[in-house]
Amino acid sequence: MAAKMTSSIDTEKKLRHIAIIMDGNGRWAKRNGVERLEGHKAGEKSVRRVMDLAKEFDVEFLTLYAFSTENWNRSEEEVSGLMALLATSMKQNLDEMHQNGVRIRLSGRINGLPLLTRKILKHAEKKTSKNRKGNLILALNYGGRAEIADAAQAIAHDVKRGKLAPEDIDEQLFSTYLYLPDVPDPDLLIRTSGECRLSNFLNWQIAYSEFWFTETLWPDFGREDFQKAVDIFYNRERRFGGRKC
Ligand code: IPE
Ligand code: IPE
Ligand code: MG
Repeated sequence: MAAKMTSSIDTEKKLRHIAIIMDGNGRWAKRNGVERLEGHKAGEKSVRRVMDLAKEFDVEFLTLYAFSTENWNRSEEEVSGLMALLATSMKQNLDEMHQNGVRIRLSGRINGLPLLTRKILKHAEKKTSKNRKGNLILALNYGGRAEIADAAQAIAHDVKRGKLAPEDIDEQLFSTYLYLPDVPDPDLLIRTSGECRLSNFLNWQIAYSEFWFTETLWPDFGREDFQKAVDIFYNRERRFGGRKC
């Protein structure tokens, strides 16, 4: 008999959700003899390119790791430059994304972001909340461990209030306490720049995701890499712990 599976695991081979660790902006800047922030600006152009590709390839969910809970350890200049870039980029692109029917969602400890950036992002989330032609999820001040800890804390509060019994806690229930419980787990995780680590991204959700790593630096990431990742995904056999029929 087949083992019982968590409902978030989709055994059908449809590429619904791609998550990307957009890495290598700094190295791109160095290679091109420009400031790190210029690398982030070039990375922002890649974001727009990849959003178009996601639409073209009919990918419903695109999650982009834009700022981790550990990225606060960078220089004050880089952090404030990144926060300002996030705000201006959202301001510039919101109308177009809205017209295209894209729903923007935020994942992470959003209240820990600087006020102006937070306001602009939350406005974008609200404005696009009824859109249904694709989802752009921005992971910001995001940490996989923080997400799990936040869920555990919320569950503990509900147990204390008598809303839940400890015996009610299973994988299914736990996942409803994560930041975006209705979003399916990523089918494919991509990391650019040659690093082969997770850096605290979606620790819970990637249990059965396929991974693809490329040497390409994020600002150089385009159609060719995207197509390669998609092809590799469709050529892999996903088993979910079961066996081939
Ligand atoms: C990724 O590029 C962007 C963010 C973390 C915001 P990096 O800035 O980490 O680029 P490298 O790793 O230094 O090349
Ligand atoms: C991961 O990249 C975070 C983002 C892409 C936002 P980092 O460059 O911060 O990760 P490490 O430090 O190489 O693990
Ligand atoms: Mg990096």
